[in-house]
Amino acid sequence: MSVPRRHYLMCRPDYFAVEYRINPWMDPSRGADRDLALRQWEDLKSVYEDLGHTVEVIEPVAGLPDMVFAANGALVVDSRVYGARFAHPERAEEAGAYLRWFTEHGFTEVKAPSFTNEGEGDLLVVDDLVLAGTGFRTDVAAHREVQEFTGHPVITLGLADPRYYHLDTALCPLGGRDIAYLPQAFTPGGRAVLERLFPDALIATPADAAAFGLNSVCDGKHVIINHEAADLQLELKRRGYEVIPVHTSELRKAGGGPKCCTLEIRK
Ligand code: ARG
Repeated sequence: MSVPRRHYLMCRPDYFAVEYRINPWMDPSRGADRDLALRQWEDLKSVYEDLGHTVEVIEPVAGLPDMVFAANGALVVDSRVYGARFAHPERAEEAGAYLRWFTEHGFTEVKAPSFTNEGEGDLLVVDDLVLAGTGFRTDVAAHREVQEFTGHPVITLGLADPRYYHLDTALCPLGGRDIAYLPQAFTPGGRAVLERLFPDALIATPADAAAFGLNSVCDGKHVIINHEAADLQLELKRRGYEVIPVHTSELRKAGGGPKCCTLEIRK
């Protein structure tokens, strides 16, 4: 069975480094191996291309070590681009670079946001819904703005654990309305909403979440996932997904995984 071709935007980790600490995974005294990060990033890009998906790349900017995490650059639905506004000054300049990329590539509905939000880090599309995280990075006012701008229902979900500071570290959209998530990463209300909306969801283990297993990319059939998330891979296979393990050790030192490096362009 072939899957519809997806369109992704990625940013080469040419300037990648762990130089500051804006999440608990980052340890500047330990740093990261940039050459290995580059190889791991190239492998991830090849996985998408070998599956028949289109990958475009944005020029990395010197001095923006986290720009490799393209998912944070915007949310794109129905060719409408909702830009990012970063919570930390260290990443602020990435927002303009991503917005410019979209205007230069023919997108006409491009919105500079009025509120803090970190793109697909906290705004995940599940079928016709946008699941929206808040608590660490994205302002709930941005959730309302996304709903007005896209016309898709936005469901606010409170995040409760600083290790899972972005929604895409705690929840992974799979095919259709199928999702996987770590309940412990959410506020009680957020958790109850997830149980109500997604009673058949795959519940991840704390170990799989800590291995960034939920920071995966699903094209509807394949799941590109960090190789260490062992139980989650088994469960995904049981549900009929084809699992493609990748290595992302270096990006993880900045608190990222495969999904963080991948912004989906939905036309
Ligand atoms: N160091 C980056 C930060 O803390 C990692 C971003 C990961 N991206 C993501 N989509 N979760 O902002």
